[in-house]
Amino acid sequence: MDARVQDIAGPLLSWYDSHARVLPWRAPPGTPAPDPYRVWLSEVMLQQTTVAAVKDYFAKFTERWPTVLDLAAADDAEVMSAWAGLGYYARARNLLACARAVAARGGAFPESEAELRSLPGLGDYTAAAVAAIAFGQRAVVVDANVERVVARLFAIDTPLPAARKEIRVAADRITPDQRSGDFAQAMMDLGSSICTPRSPRCLRCPLSRACQGKDRAEGLPVKAPKKAKPQRHGNAFWIERDGAVWLVRREGKGMLGGMRALPDDGWSARTDGSGAPPVVGEWRIGGQVSHTFTHFHLALSVQLYSGAVHARMPMNEGEWWPIAHLEEAGLPTLFAKAARLVLALQGDD
Ligand code: ADE
Repeated sequence: MDARVQDIAGPLLSWYDSHARVLPWRAPPGTPAPDPYRVWLSEVMLQQTTVAAVKDYFAKFTERWPTVLDLAAADDAEVMSAWAGLGYYARARNLLACARAVAARGGAFPESEAELRSLPGLGDYTAAAVAAIAFGQRAVVVDANVERVVARLFAIDTPLPAARKEIRVAADRITPDQRSGDFAQAMMDLGSSICTPRSPRCLRCPLSRACQGKDRAEGLPVKAPKKAKPQRHGNAFWIERDGAVWLVRREGKGMLGGMRALPDDGWSARTDGSGAPPVVGEWRIGGQVSHTFTHFHLALSVQLYSGAVHARMPMNEGEWWPIAHLEEAGLPTLFAKAARLVLALQGDD
């Protein structure tokens, strides 16, 4: 073992033995590895999403689909609805594709990082995390927390994202051959409780002796200036009849693809939504909601149909959803905001 591994992995694993967070998808340090299905599911959910936001979804999914075979047999629409509110919906579509690929090989996840990587929708990060945490393989697991810890440990001044390669090489150097899953999770816990983005608690850090960036930790990692997100505009349409609202299912793989939604004017496909409403008639604006996606801000005007609604109105495919049960429709956050706005307006009437 090279000195660096001992200087860092040793104290970090000792710290983890007494400070590991207790999380529903984890096995306590030093105990047998958890169920690969639970590890995989949690790691997919945790991408770009906080532990606090994931906990309830993880509980809901594992209760409803306790094994990967149960999930593989689930109805697509049900899984998309259960994911509603967690964001980055491509993850849910990939989740199902991956569960079905695992089911096709008998229900057991492969154990090596390379084979895991070949499953649909399973990227470098998830393959490394599952190999290390569920199968005890040595793998280099680098998420945003680990990136920050490593950039500070080695005082890496190259700005992100260009620094990623350098950070990965450094993370590889300090990853131990044994307990690399515990090591990865210890780095994550250190990043979330001690080596925090702001006001890091260097005095309490088990790695402060080895840390080259501790005197200027808050300035690391250096980040390239973010591009300002453009502002887009769009319209969503609220058509109501007999206590029900008209909902559609969004197409395939685009933004919010596969999710139930209010009809809209195609804001996701162009910079300014200018598509036609689903029915010709009288519309009035109910208000506007804002939502920020990865690459743009959206101001969505909510248009209310105020003409008569006929049973045979020429609308595209969709369904009348009882407004009293709108919570169960599995609307993604943008459309849940739009629905709340309309319901608040109606409450004011
Ligand atoms: N973020 C991503 N994976 C995690 C894990 N296994 N534990 C805590 N935070 C995480």
